[in-house]
Amino acid sequence: MSTETLPKAEIAHNYPKHIAIIMDGNGRWAKKRFMPRIIGHRAGVKTVRKIVEFCAQQHIEVLTLFAFSSENWRRPVEEVSLLMNLFVATLQSEVQRLHENNIRLRFIGDMTPFPAQLQSMLQEGVIKTQHNTGLTLVIAANYGGRWDLAEAAKTIAGKVVSGELAIDDINADLINRYTALADLPEPDLFIRTGGEQRISNFLLWQLAYTELYFTDELWPDFDGTALEKALQSYQGRERRFGQTSDQVLNAQKTPSS
Ligand code: IPE
Ligand code: IPE
Ligand code: MG
Repeated sequence: MSTETLPKAEIAHNYPKHIAIIMDGNGRWAKKRFMPRIIGHRAGVKTVRKIVEFCAQQHIEVLTLFAFSSENWRRPVEEVSLLMNLFVATLQSEVQRLHENNIRLRFIGDMTPFPAQLQSMLQEGVIKTQHNTGLTLVIAANYGGRWDLAEAAKTIAGKVVSGELAIDDINADLINRYTALADLPEPDLFIRTGGEQRISNFLLWQLAYTELYFTDELWPDFDGTALEKALQSYQGRERRFGQTSDQVLNAQKTPSS
């Protein structure tokens, strides 16, 4: 991975701070080539490398990648086990490289069902890169949006029971504080490759005002050019957050700060 990043002045206008991606289509990519699905997953890892490099160079602040959903355990055991092995091998080969490129690694999801060796590797990767100041790379593994909200509810309920919080303290801001990614900017751009137009239990809470972008390209075929297309689409959108278009345009003409 190249350590070169673009000078800030060259960063395109109105770039998203946070991009969240459902990397879908690995299996179909392999099937089209009459190859086993795992070959598609391996090709998908190569795409991850390219997209991480692209985002780091473009000064994107956060990239969240959906690697394994809480529902993916339903797949055939052989595929799940091959995916776990690929996860371990990828961490072994990539963490040092991420660190050298000033990338901060994070994981979201329920790590407890993962093999112990994998859990400690995840932890080591996070600790090693925690003080890096470049791109924050968030890997969602055994993650589900409903799990995320249930965890927040459990923590808040515990605090109400212990008297640390009152029921009237509960509002959207408070719930947000107990969800994954609470300390990071909300996703500005969501991308799903592979042609399906659904969220598949990804960041349900966090995507409330995210711009959605769907492409038929299969994840192993996705590259910098394809990401640029998504960014162009994002740049052409008007984010109104409930306001009228006139209000948004006036606020741009007279910035408050
Ligand atoms: C996404 O690709 C990767 C994971 C879910 C781990 P798929 O494996 O879902 O590929 P398709 O959708 O079957 O083509
Ligand atoms: C979503 O893809 C999960 C990941 C990419 C990790 P799936 O392929 O599992 O989603 P569905 O089953 O088609 O909704
Ligand atoms: Mg899929």
